[in-house]
Amino acid sequence: MILMTPSVNVDSPFDVLGIDSDADDAEIERAYRRRVKESHPDHGGSAREFQAVYEAYRQILDGYEGSESGEEDGSGRTVAKRENGAAEDESDESRVEYLNYEVLDDHGWELEDDDLFEKASESGLDPVDYGKILVEPGQSLLEAAEARGFAWPYACRGGACANCAVAVVEGEMEMSSNHILPAEMIEDGIRLSCLNAPITDEMKVVYNVKHLPNLDELKLPADRFERAHLND
Ligand code: FES
Repeated sequence: MILMTPSVNVDSPFDVLGIDSDADDAEIERAYRRRVKESHPDHGGSAREFQAVYEAYRQILDGYEGSESGEEDGSGRTVAKRENGAAEDESDESRVEYLNYEVLDDHGWELEDDDLFEKASESGLDPVDYGKILVEPGQSLLEAAEARGFAWPYACRGGACANCAVAVVEGEMEMSSNHILPAEMIEDGIRLSCLNAPITDEMKVVYNVKHLPNLDELKLPADRFERAHLND
């Protein structure tokens, strides 16, 4: 008897995304979005799997089994990927310094500390917990984090929960479409990373603040939205 097990061939980025090597751009994009959802730690996946999906996507966009340069244009692949957030001369991008709320307790830091990011920058934190990302025009903060392979929390991706909330410490993000956040939280700098993009060139945010007392009440279980996403 031959047991059929799902093929998990990590040798090919196409296998990681579950598509044929001749998939067109739309199929690649669709597969990436599907796999990002499946592999997200909040949705039953793991950080390692999520990272593998992102790496596979990037390899394909960079011309895996195609051109070596990865710089050809006119290919129809219009999603410009950047290596490790290296700043080019794109002036419209925002530089966002991020910090994971979960590490604050470990270090005895408070969200209100004036030197919070200075302390974070000197503490040798893991890049998952502290670092900088570039956010392209029109990109939400959550999308930018995911494009770097980070699995920031989310559930609905539509303004109906607080799972993706971040605290803006410096700079500013859009405030439109904040469907769920009460006015006082917006005033305190809380924003939804799934909907909102930075509007300043530089920004500092603490992500993963969904466990803040008032936000915890607005939070919803990630799996509540899972079925709806799978039926997309
Ligand atoms: S993920 Fe639900 S509001 Fe952002």
